Amino acid sequence: MGKTYKHAVIGYGGMGSWHHGNIRDRIPQIECIGAYDIRPEALERAKANGLHAYESIDALLSDKSIDLVTVATPNNFHKPLVIAALEAGKNVVCEKPVALNAAELEEMIAASERTRKLFSVHQNRRWDRDYRIIKEAIDTGLIGRPYFIESRVQGSRGSMFGWRGYKVNGGGMVLDWGVHLIDQLMDMIREKVVAVNADLNYIFSGEVDDNVKLTLRFESGISAIVEFSTNCFINHPRWHVSGTAATAVVDDWSCKGRIVKLNTDAKMEWGEDIVYTEAGPTRTMAPRPKETLAELPLPEVHTDWSDYYKNIAAVLDGRCGEGPETELIVKPQQCLRVMRVIDAVFESDRIGHGLQVNI
Ligand SMILES: NC(=O)c1ccc[n+]([C@@H]2O[C@H](COP(=O)([O-])OP(=O)(O)OC[C@H]3O[C@@H](n4cnc5c(N)ncnc54)[C@H](O)[C@@H]3O)[C@@H](O)[C@H]2O)c1
Repeated sequence: MGKTYKHAVIGYGGMGSWHHGNIRDRIPQIECIGAYDIRPEALERAKANGLHAYESIDALLSDKSIDLVTVATPNNFHKPLVIAALEAGKNVVCEKPVALNAAELEEMIAASERTRKLFSVHQNRRWDRDYRIIKEAIDTGLIGRPYFIESRVQGSRGSMFGWRGYKVNGGGMVLDWGVHLIDQLMDMIREKVVAVNADLNYIFSGEVDDNVKLTLRFESGISAIVEFSTNCFINHPRWHVSGTAATAVVDDWSCKGRIVKLNTDAKMEWGEDIVYTEAGPTRTMAPRPKETLAELPLPEVHTDWSDYYKNIAAVLDGRCGEGPETELIVKPQQCLRVMRVIDAVFESDRIGHGLQVNI
C-alpha cells in the first residue's frame, strides 16, 4: 500500500456523511479527518462522528495537511468550491452532477490543468451491478451487436425533495438521475453521440423537470431510450437491450433478469400460411414454439462502489512516485461530454424537437 491521504468533506449532508463513512470503513489509503458545512447542525454531526469541524471554508482550504477534498454540496456550489479547492492546492473529487452545464465544467477543468491537481467526479453508478451486467453482456458479445438500449429508473414519490426542487440549486431529474444514466451509456458505448431528443415534464413543480424521456443516437446507429420518472406506478424493466443475437433484460435493482436467444439446435419451420393468433391474422407476431428459444442466465459480475476511491488513491500514489502510474477511471473530459449531452437535452426540450450533435 502507498501513502495515506488526508481527506475532508465539503458539505456534510446526506452524501457528504456517506463519503465519510465509506472512506472510514472501506478505504484504508484515505483518512477522512474533517468537514466543513454552512449549517452549524451539520458541523455538530461531523464532530459527533469524530471529525474536525472547520469553522470556515478558508480554514479547511488553508489546512496544509489535507491532500484531498470531496465536494458534496447542492449542485450550484460545485463550480466555485471545486475551483477554490484546486487553487488552494487540493486534489478534488466532486459529486455529480459536476456542474450545471458544460461551460461551468470547462472552467473547472481549466483550473485543474492550471494547478495540475487531480480532479474527478463521483460517478459511482459506473460500479452498479445492474449496469455492469448489461455492459458485460455487450462487451463479451453474448447478445451480438446491440441496437436498442433502454435504461430506466422509475419511482412514484412525486416531487423532488429539498434543494432538488429549485432551479437555482441545479435541481430536477436530468441533473440528479439523468447524469448517471447518460454517463453509464457513454461509458458503455464508446462512440460519438450524434442525436439527442428529449421530453421533460414538470408535473410537481413549474420549476424543475421531474419526469423525463430522452433518446440518444450513437454514431454507428445504436439508439438508447433513457427514462427517469417520479410519477410512475407500473415500472418498465431497469434495462431492456435488443442485440442482433439475443434480448437481455434486467428487471430491477435486485438484478434478476434473463437473456433469451434463438436455440440454433431446434428447427423452426416458417410456413407461408397466415397464422391466426390473439393479435389477429399475422405471421410476424405469431408466437414461436418454445423449443426454438434458449434462455441464459445474466452474466455474473462483482462490483463495488469503493473501487472509485481506490482508483483515486492509486492515481495519487502514481503522481507522487509511491506506486505505478495509474489512469483515472472517471475522467473530467468524459464528464464534459456528458454535460454537453445534458446541455442538448435541455435545448431539445426547449425547442420541441431533436438535435443533431457531434459529441
Ligand atoms: N453519487 C450519488 O450516488 C449521489 C447520491 C446523492 C447525492 N449526490 C450528490 O451529492 C450532493 C449533495 O447531495 P445531498 O443529497 O447530500 O444533499 P444534502 O442537502 O443532504 O447535503 C448538502 C449539504 O451541503 C451543505 N451546503 C450547502 N451549501 C454549502 C456550501 N456553500 N458550503 C458548504 N456546505 C454547503 C448543506 O448544509 C448540506 O449539509 C449533490 O451534488 C448530489 O447530486 C450524489
